[in-house]
Amino acid sequence: MIRSVLFTLIFLPGCSQPLPPAMASDSALAPSEIRSGLTFLQPETQALQADDFSNPSYLWVDHGAELFSRTPPSGGEACATCHTATNHPQEGAAAHYPAYDEASKSLVNLEGRINLCRERHQSLPPLAYESEDLLALTGYVASLSRGVPVSVSIEGQAAPYYEMGRAYFFQRKGQLNLACSQCHNEHWGRQLRGDTISQGHGNAFPAYRLEWQAFGSLQRRLRDCDAGIRAEPLDYGSELYTAVELYLGSRASGLPMESPGVRR
Ligand code: HEC
Ligand code: HEC
Repeated sequence: MIRSVLFTLIFLPGCSQPLPPAMASDSALAPSEIRSGLTFLQPETQALQADDFSNPSYLWVDHGAELFSRTPPSGGEACATCHTATNHPQEGAAAHYPAYDEASKSLVNLEGRINLCRERHQSLPPLAYESEDLLALTGYVASLSRGVPVSVSIEGQAAPYYEMGRAYFFQRKGQLNLACSQCHNEHWGRQLRGDTISQGHGNAFPAYRLEWQAFGSLQRRLRDCDAGIRAEPLDYGSELYTAVELYLGSRASGLPMESPGVRR
């Protein structure tokens, strides 16, 4: 079959890793085998993430901390005025995103939630996706959840988004006709173009990628994966990518938040 020939071509021989346990193509990961992408990285990259002084992400996170406590030039309150240790604390908050927002009747990820606060509570326009300021604020807020187990709600109004994200994960697409699941469920642990394929969790994002030489969002990472299989990447902030983020969060339940991570 043409399809399997393509697949063999992509998964080049010469991999030194043991094969993962065989799984039916529709299966999810067993809870006992969930592993962070961190465990598949080279020791040098792991060390960069582990040391806050060498982790380049902190250029963004420190800027985010500064923005968080800055009073908007137009007046109004700083994020830090409303968010304190006792009032809407930010510690642990990022581990629950994406989440359904009643007021806008939509699923919002952390970037979207921060922009909601700008619009609703600071009368400021939303920051552009992947702008330095939104990355900085998202990175700072996410850093306050480091070590907190990923735990998203897929109940109630969030349920349809979960289904949408899950369907995308298993859907074959692009010129290579591959699904996320084929790499991240069925071939994790194997080599692909110099990377060891991980299970595709989002717990390290936003993260600094050496390939980007920059800090970037989870959706930027998803766009790279879609581009890698020659599929048209979705728009930043699209409902579907946010739904995929929710599915990934549910799939990664219990993994510690690592953002700001470092990846290859
Ligand atoms: C052809 C194989 C392939 C496909 C298909 C693929 N990816 Fe990936 N993905 C990779 C590789 C290689 C990396 C970088 C190494 C790794 O797995 O962390 C990666 C990284 C990731 C990461 C970052 C993991 C981390 O810890 O840094 C996420 C999240 C991810 N992929 C999600 C997805 C999603 C969602 C899809 C479907 C839209 C997808 N991938 C499709 C190969 C693939
Ligand atoms: C005037 C007060 C106010 C300001 C200023 C404000 N927020 Fe909020 N924020 C809230 C309230 C209240 C909530 C709870 C949800 C709601 O009512 O909108 C919230 C919710 C959040 C959440 C979700 C927390 C959770 O546990 O789900 C995040 C993240 C957040 N804000 C980040 C920020 C950031 C970042 C800024 C600055 C850009 C900011 N907020 C500015 C009042 C504020």
